[in-house]
Amino acid sequence: MKKQLLLILTVSLSAVAFAQTSKELKKHQFVSGLMAKLTLEEKLGQLNLPASSDFVTGAVSSSDIAEKVKAGKVGGVFNIRSVTKIKELQEFAVKNTRLHIPLLFGMDVIHGYRTIFPIPLGMSATWDMSLIEKSARIAASEASADGIQWTFSPMVDLTRDPRWGRVSEGNGEDAFLSSAIAKAMVHGYQGDDLSAPNTILSCVKHYALYGAAEGGRDYNTTDMSRVRMYNEYFPPYKAAVDAGVASVMVSFNEIDGVPASGNKWLVDDVLRKQWKFGGFVVSDYTGIPEMTNHGVGDYQTVNALSLNAGVDMDMVGEGFLTTLKKSMTEGKVTLAQINKACERILVAKYDLGLFDDPYRYCNEQRSATEVFTSANRAEARKIAAQSFVLLKNNNVLPIAAGKTIALVGPLANAKENMTGTWSVGADNTKSITLLKGLTDAVGTNGKVLYAKGSNLEDDAEMQNRQTMFGKDIPRDNRSAEELIKEALAVSANADVIVAAIGEGAESSGESASKSLIDIPEAQKRLLKALVATGKPVALVLFNGRPLTLNWEKENVPAILDVWFAGSEAGDAIADALLGKVNPSGKLSMSFPQSVGQIPLYYNHKNTGRPLTGKWFSKFQSNYIDVSNEPLYPFGYGLSYTQFEYGDIQLSSKQLKGNQKLTVSVNVKNTGSVTGKEVVQLYIRDVVGSITRPVQELKGFNKIELAAGESKNVSFEVTPELLKFYNGDLKYDWEAGDFEIMVGPNSKEVKKVKINWTK
Ligand code: BGC
Repeated sequence: MKKQLLLILTVSLSAVAFAQTSKELKKHQFVSGLMAKLTLEEKLGQLNLPASSDFVTGAVSSSDIAEKVKAGKVGGVFNIRSVTKIKELQEFAVKNTRLHIPLLFGMDVIHGYRTIFPIPLGMSATWDMSLIEKSARIAASEASADGIQWTFSPMVDLTRDPRWGRVSEGNGEDAFLSSAIAKAMVHGYQGDDLSAPNTILSCVKHYALYGAAEGGRDYNTTDMSRVRMYNEYFPPYKAAVDAGVASVMVSFNEIDGVPASGNKWLVDDVLRKQWKFGGFVVSDYTGIPEMTNHGVGDYQTVNALSLNAGVDMDMVGEGFLTTLKKSMTEGKVTLAQINKACERILVAKYDLGLFDDPYRYCNEQRSATEVFTSANRAEARKIAAQSFVLLKNNNVLPIAAGKTIALVGPLANAKENMTGTWSVGADNTKSITLLKGLTDAVGTNGKVLYAKGSNLEDDAEMQNRQTMFGKDIPRDNRSAEELIKEALAVSANADVIVAAIGEGAESSGESASKSLIDIPEAQKRLLKALVATGKPVALVLFNGRPLTLNWEKENVPAILDVWFAGSEAGDAIADALLGKVNPSGKLSMSFPQSVGQIPLYYNHKNTGRPLTGKWFSKFQSNYIDVSNEPLYPFGYGLSYTQFEYGDIQLSSKQLKGNQKLTVSVNVKNTGSVTGKEVVQLYIRDVVGSITRPVQELKGFNKIELAAGESKNVSFEVTPELLKFYNGDLKYDWEAGDFEIMVGPNSKEVKKVKINWTK
């Protein structure tokens, strides 16, 4: 019986393998057949990716797209937001080009397409991989219904500098969490079959180290050791590759003095040879010609450098199209390299099913019925509420039924602002404001009063810079004093004040670096006046990055961080404020006390003089004027209930070789309402051949507990989890002592020591 079963299994497995091989063979035959027909010019055309002028996400946009398409000089186009236009252009390409090759249509579908989810930094605060995957799935199905086949997401640039505006687009400071997110997102976008009409190609970006820009200034230089790259910054990109991501975008910055767009070590050696990446590599927006500014050669040289490095597609630069033929004639690049790049792009088009049906993703019917649906919006509302992080709560939240609420602040009624940065597919006029969400939710069961209270910034120019791309927050021309006076008058009639305050949507995102990360003065003044009333105040904080909130932490009774939670933000925030949803988000990035502490991250090294005593201690590693502590640590977030952690239980304290260690802990909801908790496992490798971080996240588990309920949460630790790249960049684990830590955040952990021998 067993034998028979085994036989059937072997036969069907080999049938699957055979089907796969024959599928691959068919693809190979098709693509090489097509390659044989293409002229050199047409091959170079496939490598060219101009931007549509529909909307512009970079410094320049491309011209004469239609003419170039007709001449076979375009492989794909990005950022067209209309299924009709995409269909038209696709038809134009297929009908008018010699070999009828369909175009690839891309877009920055970063946190949703039309139904917008929280910004990625907020999504990462959910610590819920199934929700993250679901958000990517919905984004893919909406985008594909509108003709899009390729998204430039996920962005997994690890970062430790909240001055850098692009922290909003990533997953924060931790490689383990970000790797899990990368995997979930790639799968969410790509599904199991790229040729399905509702899945799209994913593109992990910005490879690599873009988040380590010096001084947090966008596009700035990066420089770091290989050990740090491999152990800390590379893993999330690699996780996306391991998850089968179809494409990779190289970054604007340099690595070891060579810009990523032309860095052969980075692309050819690490990505392709070491990680076995088989998809195609695209440059970032004009990233190739920008290498001239970096100082590594003229236009022709940098384009040759880029192709030699292993970049296949040129975003907006147009230099692959215009210089590679000359470089080939001069022996600076080879035909084989051009062929390889072209082949990779054709393979992606094949995998999408475009050669079977170029209009597979241009279904107007789907576009009309499957985008921004009430079902998708309901999911977005649910997911948004899961991203909120309760930073403080002195019995203000949730707000009980029947209360009069004064909703005050420049972000309370700012529709266009809700979706946050990189929401290019959104119709911002359709977002739900907090004023609408709260008013609807309260209904007749209480009252919502409203006053604007202040502008986003005192200075109109400063405000403009943070509200571009249609994220307008109209200015109020009354004086700051008048605005506050009105807010106080409205608050006088309320039981509780909700202050909707923080950053504008474009205060973070690309090219939105800041040297100061306080709440803008105009709003802080308002907040101080509200707190001075002595009424309960809940600060609803809008932000695309960690902010310095010392005064707020000290003086405001409650703080709920809502990031930019997307098109349904207003309803979702109301759900949390009124207790329909219990906040359960946890920070994926430390909040510093002061900009001077940056870079500040939980998984730092110990140094030779760690602060062992109290701050301040002379001749130990600390500052005179500020402690080493973050304001809010990585992994932190409160709930409307409380959780009690039992002691850590271990399957053994002495392990050997490939044994498994089970770490478990009992967690109890000791409060009075149901809540979710992210139980976190950290490990410290006490002694290593190179120094190791004081703690590293190695596991997390989000559980739900009813009031009074307890659960035993367990983690399995294997030697695989203890591996790191040593000084020779060899990936292995080292025997010795390890500290096992479990807790509700990176700071409040229980600790036990184990020993693991080889
Ligand atoms: C950004 C990328 C983006 C690309 C296309 C660039 O400026 O760095 O993240 O995908 O533009 O819009």
